[in-house]
Amino acid sequence: MLGLKTKTDPSWVEVALSDELALLRDHAHLERKAAGHCITLMGQLERAETRLLEVAREELEHFELLSQAASGELGQLYEDLKESEAGHHAFFISVAYEHWPREQVKKRWDELTTAEAEILANIEWGPRIH
Ligand SMILES: [Fe+2]
Repeated sequence: MLGLKTKTDPSWVEVALSDELALLRDHAHLERKAAGHCITLMGQLERAETRLLEVAREELEHFELLSQAASGELGQLYEDLKESEAGHHAFFISVAYEHWPREQVKKRWDELTTAEAEILANIEWGPRIH
């Protein structure tokens, strides 16, 4: 779905769930960062301004959910977030295609996913999303 260069090792789940509250805090931090990036992009990609604001609001809602979630609630929480998060990926790719040539977007996506794969291959896993 995301076109990542590496598959998540199933043993990551055990490591991630070793400290559910740390995982929730890390994910909440990422949601806050995503909202901030949307707001930053609003000033750069005016044609997508309204849609970026909608996604920023959703990301802040996710931040609030994750910040308030308790250990033991992860299954339902992630089930609830799954569809929205998958939609965000498609949204950002579509906005990129609206603003830059298709080949440039594909090249940049390849650079980013390659860098991500290299980082993931060289970090110690922990109770975090990345
Ligand atoms: Fe999100």
